[in-house]
Amino acid sequence: MNDPQQAPWDGLVVGVSLATLDGGSGYGEVEDAALGWREGTIVHAGPRTALPADPNALSGAVIDAGGGWITPGLVDCHTHLVFAGDRAGEFEQRLQGMGYEEIARAGGGIASTVRAVRSAGEDALLEQSLPRARALTADGVTTLEIKSGYGLEFDGERRMLRVARRVGEELGVAVRTTYLAAHALPPEFAGRADAYIDAVVEWLPRLHAEGLVDAVDAFVERIGFTAAQARRVFEAARALGLPVKLHADQLSDGGGAALVAGFDGLSADHVEHTGEAGVQAMAAAGTVAVLLPGAFHVLRETRLPPVDAFRVHGVPMAVATDCNPGTSPLLSLRQAMQLACTHFRLTPEEALRGATVNAARALGLRDRGVLRPGMRADFVHWAIARPAELCYWLGGQLATSVHAGGRRIA
Ligand code: NIG
Ligand code: FE
Repeated sequence: MNDPQQAPWDGLVVGVSLATLDGGSGYGEVEDAALGWREGTIVHAGPRTALPADPNALSGAVIDAGGGWITPGLVDCHTHLVFAGDRAGEFEQRLQGMGYEEIARAGGGIASTVRAVRSAGEDALLEQSLPRARALTADGVTTLEIKSGYGLEFDGERRMLRVARRVGEELGVAVRTTYLAAHALPPEFAGRADAYIDAVVEWLPRLHAEGLVDAVDAFVERIGFTAAQARRVFEAARALGLPVKLHADQLSDGGGAALVAGFDGLSADHVEHTGEAGVQAMAAAGTVAVLLPGAFHVLRETRLPPVDAFRVHGVPMAVATDCNPGTSPLLSLRQAMQLACTHFRLTPEEALRGATVNAARALGLRDRGVLRPGMRADFVHWAIARPAELCYWLGGQLATSVHAGGRRIA
């Protein structure tokens, strides 16, 4: 299949080092390397001296990068990027001492973004969301998960998921959609959470039939839903063969990690309050821990996720932006990696694996996240001297080119 004589390659980069992340540990460093791709797939990721001799293979565009590093494309596996408006006012309220849960109980928080999304048409929603997605891709993101969860009615959830798909089409970034109607209780269902879950379960197959749903999520929390309610949503997902993930144990230990692991969930996300039993359940199920240091940072949280326990039990850790208007208005996955190192003490290597191979796994994607022949040609060229710099700089523009499926997107 990867016969170099079959057709000329579409591109070849030389004069560069690779961090392939191929193998269980280390960056998979290759100096004086070459990366070649054809028809959206990597055909060579290794030493330049190991390139095939056949000149036909090399007749595509050959780029001498003149230094720097290439990593796999970054995978942002947890975002709420499609929304309308902003919540800068709540940020100011919180700085004056008001709590996130307090604001939510007073009708602000997620509910205020729900009001903004319900009154925005599809084109307006797209127009507001595209610049955020562009910021992420410009900083290296080639696969982007986007959740619904600010419509909380059939049409609003559908509109969000449609916009998420359109973001992918417009920017060439691979988008995975997640149905998160069980994010908050809409006002028209006040005091009737179980009836709302009935509706959430009824909308799911209809949206799935339109090809709008790749995975299903819920928010188990004092200000969200109970574990029993999330279980009902997961059962509906399972009936359709859809994978599940969960906003778990963010503000309190609600048993979320064990719940989602019990459904062979792809990931448990946030997990600051996850206890030992939850970690063990995740390890047994192969559920990824998605760390969201942006929300931790913005909410000025102090309870750290059980990173050591994840290491000891071999639970893969991913890192994502959680880009959303309330807890994490974060528009750079590289910045999230930086925060994961400074706040959660991940090593830069763990953070990079967390934003590539482990993040891909948190989306159920096995065809990306490392540089290896046969994988999708998703890769980023960075103007850096060593990989740890990706977690070192705060801000700035380090990505010099970003390719998704072999196509340059930034
Ligand atoms: O991941 N925790 C719940 N959901 C989001 C926040 C959503 C919002 O505040 O708008 C999160 O932090
Ligand atoms: Fe989230």
